[in-house]
Amino acid sequence: MSGFNLAIDGPAGSGKSTISARIAKKLNWTHIDTGAMYRAVTLKAIELGVNLEDESSYRFLESVVVHYDFDKIFVDDRDVTEAIRSEDVTNNVSLVSSFPYVRKKLVELQKNAALHGNIVMDGRDIGTVVLPNADLKVFLTANVEERAKRRYKENIKKGKDQHISKVIEDIVVRDQKDSTRKESPLRIADDAIIIDTTYLTIDEVVDKIIELTDKKENKHGV
Ligand code: DC
Repeated sequence: MSGFNLAIDGPAGSGKSTISARIAKKLNWTHIDTGAMYRAVTLKAIELGVNLEDESSYRFLESVVVHYDFDKIFVDDRDVTEAIRSEDVTNNVSLVSSFPYVRKKLVELQKNAALHGNIVMDGRDIGTVVLPNADLKVFLTANVEERAKRRYKENIKKGKDQHISKVIEDIVVRDQKDSTRKESPLRIADDAIIIDTTYLTIDEVVDKIIELTDKKENKHGV
């Protein structure tokens, strides 16, 4: 039986993965972080040593299984949850996710994952391409400085001390790449509700989205 599909999109550092994970936990729904899936493909390609610039390099996706489960990401049966956060992966994921072949493969997996139960899926093109009929679409924004500050704090926790100006620069470059690529660029769906998270805490955003979800469920009797 198909359940409630909640689509959450937004740029790098908008908090969408953390917020989606928390909503899923609170509601006991399934969370799918699609950015983690693109990162997993990037990691695998780097490890295989293939030419990252060549779309045909990604044919390995015919036999390799990328799978997201309970906030952990697997390539075949290997847990790569930590490994996909490396700098090497972050620097190459925009390139890898720009290839139509890679997107086609992952979008297929994402659509299938949303067929059963209540799900929260976050990414860049969930409301526009993956789940155009989602029951609720949210687009999270925050100004660049705030997003960089969040990334910076995360990095410090992981022992990575990078100057804030470099973090801002990386975010600006990634925004530019993600929103100008030919294939499924980051775009706000016409029917998405925009939430600016710059001055909100994670819990405030979570509560706001749960409230919107409740309203939709009552309206549609999902
Ligand atoms: O959310 P993130 O930073 O982990 O995402 C990593 C990259 O994956 C991001 O730069 C763009 C890409 N991505 C995408 O193209 N489509 C999605 N649905 C999710 C992520």
